[in-house]
Amino acid sequence: MKDKLQKLKSEALAVIKAIKDDAGLVDLENRLLGRKAGELTELMKGLKDLSDEEKRTVGQLANEVKKEIEEELAVKKNELWEKNSSGELEKETVDISQPALPSQECGHFHPNSIVQKDLEDFFVSMGFKILDGPELESDYYNFAAVNIPADHPARDMQDTFYIKDHSDWVMRTHTSSVQVRAMQKYGAPLRMIVPGKCFRNESTDARHEHTFYQLEGVVVDKNITLAHMKGVLEAVAKHLYGSETKVRLRPKFYPFVEPGVNGEVTCFLCGGKGCRVCKYTGWMEIFGAGMIHPNVLKEGNIDSMKYQGFAFGFGLTRLVMLKYNIDDIRFLESGDLRFIKQF
Ligand code: DAH
Repeated sequence: MKDKLQKLKSEALAVIKAIKDDAGLVDLENRLLGRKAGELTELMKGLKDLSDEEKRTVGQLANEVKKEIEEELAVKKNELWEKNSSGELEKETVDISQPALPSQECGHFHPNSIVQKDLEDFFVSMGFKILDGPELESDYYNFAAVNIPADHPARDMQDTFYIKDHSDWVMRTHTSSVQVRAMQKYGAPLRMIVPGKCFRNESTDARHEHTFYQLEGVVVDKNITLAHMKGVLEAVAKHLYGSETKVRLRPKFYPFVEPGVNGEVTCFLCGGKGCRVCKYTGWMEIFGAGMIHPNVLKEGNIDSMKYQGFAFGFGLTRLVMLKYNIDDIRFLESGDLRFIKQF
């Protein structure tokens, strides 16, 4: 038995030396010292058959062998750990002579979105909800529902993008298309705005573009008058251009309102004296508005004998151009980063 122990020891030490990785080490540890069938464990089980004298000497040898093997295994374990971790450190080295990576660019809001969000916050503070509607709209919601009759010039092929093979679909020409949708869905009373994209079949120039933004508003309630309308629009004008700003309403025909007005505010640049921005009139036209036509309320299933309301439409794109002094509308949809990065 002593020989067997000696032999096991010398073989084990040789194998330990040759081990190259953690897996090999674990394997060997199990093979020698495993509780169930480890070679040394099995040998030591034979101790119980020896005489007392032999038990003492062989037992001592067996313990020494076990201890030696364990020590060698521990040394190897340490060796492998050091080897592995130094490899990782090597992988992690930084080459400080390498040129820097280009810095990550951070995006930001488009000027349209900046103005839109500002107005959304303002209207929310007055209790309006923010809605949207489809950009590809039915002829009904874009025209008929807002009292634009079949022979109205706004329906001309020259003004509107119609959809091939779908003569009753249009790219909405204004956000007023959401007025009746909102009335049908929410009923009265109602306070809502709809900011969004609109489309017209324009030949483009510095002031005309096929895609632009509007912000529509609707208020429906009992006993609503033109005075409420003026109050709200004045609050918006002051929010946009300062507390000194004045609003002027002049009659203008829009089929979906009666009476209808064209809304102007005193020029934010010259304060009304006249300058290049306001074309020397002192006034800037920024919205259309009016008292909602009973026909429109009817389409929205609202009883016009009980409820009245006003509606308004701001040229959001125009507000953006005024705010940032942009003199060509085509920049806004151009996707040109040299332009966009300025905001
Ligand atoms: N939809 C009109 C346009 O595109 C703007 C407008 C005028 C909207 C008067 C309104 C309104 O709600 O009452 O020119």
